[in-house]
Amino acid sequence: MKVLATYNIKGGVGKTATAVNLSYLAARDGLRVLLADLDPQAAATYTLRVRPRVKGGGKALIKGTDFDNLDLLPADFTFRNLDLMLDATKKPTQRLARLLRPLRASYDLVFLDCPPGISLLSESVLHAADLALVPIIPTTLSLRTLDQLTEFISDFDGPRPEVLAFSSMIDRRKRLHKEIAERLPAERKDVADTAIPALSMIEQMSVRRAPVAAFAPRSAAARAYAELWAEVRDSQF
Ligand SMILES: Nc1ncnc2c1ncn2[C@@H]1O[C@H](COP(=O)(O)OP(=O)(O)O)[C@@H](O)[C@H]1O
Ligand SMILES: [Mg+2]
Repeated sequence: MKVLATYNIKGGVGKTATAVNLSYLAARDGLRVLLADLDPQAAATYTLRVRPRVKGGGKALIKGTDFDNLDLLPADFTFRNLDLMLDATKKPTQRLARLLRPLRASYDLVFLDCPPGISLLSESVLHAADLALVPIIPTTLSLRTLDQLTEFISDFDGPRPEVLAFSSMIDRRKRLHKEIAERLPAERKDVADTAIPALSMIEQMSVRRAPVAAFAPRSAAARAYAELWAEVRDSQF
């Protein structure tokens, strides 16, 4: 079982859109996928519409979705207290990784959709993940935060996630966006070749309440996420 996470200290950069679309594409490829919505804002949960189908055993918290092979751990407003709950445990940063372990029998991929910020929760997410996917809107500042993240992770005891950043919400009319998005993958090994453009079809996900490939399979948006998923799949599976 692989654990992937979308992470960025900032909100509104495309973490949830990426988590939902890549989880869907992984499930469509036949992997058994659980998307865990760890953000009390619950955007992933809203987009995927929870099905009341409750799976057996001790997994009553996990719900089905409209899509084969794709389950959801819905966000809960109490998740705003996850930091406090983690803080009350021994070895808080290892706790999430331990909680995920029993899921190994049921899933090939657990995708953690992280809230913004750098908290005990995000630290735990990074400890639990095999790969942290970091959407960056290309500016000099966002590259600095990527370097800070890499440094932060390099100090971890025990397993460290790989970091794969990618250009997100690229506005073709902005020259700086285009330039940085084209240059970065050649210059840095930790930046994916795929860039996700700013596209209104991606905003439509919260109206259609589905991954973009499910309602607009031939769109540029669906193609961009398929390309990103292919990069991630080839590096992890
Ligand atoms: N590539 C994109 N192009 C256009 N809109 C996007 C794109 N990615 C995300 N959005 C929209 O921007 C908003 C924030 O995206 P979201 O994925 O929720 O960010 P985060 O999870 O990082 O806070 C949402 O309304 C989403 O629909
Ligand atoms: Mg989000």
